[in-house]
Amino acid sequence: MADASSPPTDQLAAATLNNEVPKAQFSDRVPIRSIISRPDGGSGLAGLKARVGGWVKTGRKADKDAFAFLEINDGSCAANLQVIVEASLGELSQLVPTGTCIVVDGHLKLPPAGTKQKIELRADMVIHVGPVDPAKYPLPKMRLTLEFLRDFVHLRSRTNTISAVARIRNALAFATHTFFNKEGFLYVHTPIVTTSDCEGAGEMFQVTTLLSEAERLEKELLQNPPPTEADVEAAKFVVVEKGEVVSQLKAAKASKSEIAAAVDQLKISKESLAKVEERSKLKPGIPKKDDGKVDYGKDFFARQAFLTVSGQLQVESYVCALSSVYTFGPTFRAENSHTSRHLAEFWMVEPEIAFAELKDDMNCAEAYVKFMCQWLLDNCLEDMEFMADKFDKGCIDRLKLVASTPFIRVTYTEAVEILEEAVKNGKKFENEVKWGIDLASEHERFLTEVKFQKPVIVYNYPKDIKAFYMRLNDDLKTVAAMDVLVPKVGELIGGSQREERYEVIQSRIKEMGLPLEPYEWYLDLRRYGTVKHAGFGLGFERMILFATGLENIRDVIPFPRYPGRADL
Ligand code: 4AD
Ligand code: MG
Repeated sequence: MADASSPPTDQLAAATLNNEVPKAQFSDRVPIRSIISRPDGGSGLAGLKARVGGWVKTGRKADKDAFAFLEINDGSCAANLQVIVEASLGELSQLVPTGTCIVVDGHLKLPPAGTKQKIELRADMVIHVGPVDPAKYPLPKMRLTLEFLRDFVHLRSRTNTISAVARIRNALAFATHTFFNKEGFLYVHTPIVTTSDCEGAGEMFQVTTLLSEAERLEKELLQNPPPTEADVEAAKFVVVEKGEVVSQLKAAKASKSEIAAAVDQLKISKESLAKVEERSKLKPGIPKKDDGKVDYGKDFFARQAFLTVSGQLQVESYVCALSSVYTFGPTFRAENSHTSRHLAEFWMVEPEIAFAELKDDMNCAEAYVKFMCQWLLDNCLEDMEFMADKFDKGCIDRLKLVASTPFIRVTYTEAVEILEEAVKNGKKFENEVKWGIDLASEHERFLTEVKFQKPVIVYNYPKDIKAFYMRLNDDLKTVAAMDVLVPKVGELIGGSQREERYEVIQSRIKEMGLPLEPYEWYLDLRRYGTVKHAGFGLGFERMILFATGLENIRDVIPFPRYPGRADL
């Protein structure tokens, strides 16, 4: 990957002439990465001046308080830069607390022989200090559990683990766009607010302003009570009166200007009556229709709306014109899951391919996952080594394995046979195994972790456990669905060939007890110019779990949302 922090060569030459390490293009400091992540560890820069900024990881005073040694990190890479500050440059006790932000000008020098770092910075001037009161700072230097850090999502990005995850997440996003761009896919932004339930599972968060509107109205009516019936009658009476004045003036052949003035008065009284009548109808609470159901016609979108569970249906409308597309965005599920693999808000990568069948879909999924694994090995090894060291010894080998070995492919029926065989041989599962069940996480993990010890694609699932849009196979019992299962995580990808036959999909929607009306636009894609197509959704956080070996999905998304929790 190109080093985004490297300045252009002419700038480099000019800066080096000045005896300075070139600064970042858009900020007033040298990224620590451009010093330490060089092949020589930065030693070749010894003697040059540099301004660096970062947050103190560890600080200590030494030599009877003559110096402070500060390990600082700016997030540009995992490693810290050691900065040495003399007491004459500032109040050292203000610099050493963990979490302090500092900017210093200094010169790089080779550390004494035998120390682990290849370069250090000797400060010449302290430019900025963002102090920390160590008695109050919530993230002291000791090792903190990931669970503890979830109570400080606004500060946890300063820890080694969460910042490494952030860089790995960024690399995987970059890899995703690189892969699909390379393969000729167009990135399509599908809506977050939607009126169709893609999975038909009813796990959607509703988007409405009816509640806040009702609250606002209730408050307003308390402060300013609605007109009573008597008020309405009085307003009507005024209209009648004003009307009579006009008639009398006309009968008396009054002047044009007199009549016009009376007509104006009548108009004003009518407008005032209309307002009084309208306000008198205001009722506190959610607007209801005559049948007692909520009147969504009065809601913001004039219909019921939700947060999307998947961009698939909408992206299908683009694939039926642009042939190879993908969407990558946040998706939402209001399922009351407290597992380490589920979030209420997660990101999904959803490619969709026209002129393609299930096999093409599986090939694409496999190539994409392999590409991401290789990408991390090529571009993110330092952070992966950190993960291997601190959390999961096998994570780098796992990436290598997945990047290089073909995925196993078994039909759902074969998978069930394997599981039944395992049960016969004494394996105990909590959920019973028989043809027709939705595979539970324990079954999926048995297949990928124990039986095959590599990614497994299970395909051709029973139609009754899958969504309406999946293509019915000729056996009329199964659909052309596929799930990619990986060690550590279980289901990483869910996808299918889509039902492109108008009659079949229409009857599938009805069969599943779903209303046809909201899917009419989707049926249009089959009515007009239908095409074989297929696609899948990769749970982006699950991919990060798989790569890093972390145990809980709440630690691989910056701001996790799950039942009972939506901080910030
Ligand atoms: O299998 P799912 O539900 O498939 C779909 O939504 C399809 N419409 C995708 C498509 O064909 N375009 O979800 C896809 C993936 C799962 O395999 C899983 O990795 C992830 O999304 N996922 C979740 N990740 C975190 N938290 C949750 N609650 C998730 N639900 C699904
Ligand atoms: Mg699924």
